[in-house]
Amino acid sequence: MKFFVDTADTDAIRELKDLGMVDGVTTNPSLIMKSGRDIKEVTKEICDMIPGPVSAETVATDAEGMIAEGLELKKIADNIAVKVPLTWDGLKACKALTDKGHMVNVTLCFSATQALLAAKAGATFISPFVGRLDDINLDGMDLIADIREIYDNYGFQTQILTASVRSINHVSDAAKIGADVATCPPDVIKKMAQHPLTDKGLDAFLKDWAKTGQSIL
Ligand code: E4P
Repeated sequence: MKFFVDTADTDAIRELKDLGMVDGVTTNPSLIMKSGRDIKEVTKEICDMIPGPVSAETVATDAEGMIAEGLELKKIADNIAVKVPLTWDGLKACKALTDKGHMVNVTLCFSATQALLAAKAGATFISPFVGRLDDINLDGMDLIADIREIYDNYGFQTQILTASVRSINHVSDAAKIGADVATCPPDVIKKMAQHPLTDKGLDAFLKDWAKTGQSIL
């Protein structure tokens, strides 16, 4: 499973990248707003740091506008994946941009039929938002499983990019289903390393070690 980091915080990306944990990055208008930085400047910095796909989102609502913004965002770096929303116009923009050979991430996906349309429009990535479905008492992971089944039935190459990840269970469940990518906030990736039995075991080992009076170095 590939890990993308869902943030425009370059310090957080750098820390995870140094550990080999970052295969790509996703941003959106809210994350750019949170960073307080210029979209082109911060996206360029991310693209220079991470060789994998870096999603940058369009904000136009018509296909023509999305295509124009997508082509502008593509000028930032070769590894830009243009992010468009899963609307009818977004699908048109997806088809036009992928036909030109650009990577496209179709975002704000909340149903299997939406995902099917995105695949037919040639999307490189489909982003089903699991956390936002859970928020309204639906099961985001059911959607990941449905999309996996549908894509596998027909051999669609569109990669399932599990988005709106809020917990480590989202990551392990998506991995079990076979989602291609999970895009995670940095704190979720860090939480994946934590286990109370690891802490308890380490504490016991260190106490016993101290009793030996030995030192390794
Ligand atoms: C994905 O590409 C989105 O940027 C993101 O995962 C949305 O997450 P949220 O629902 O926590 O805002």
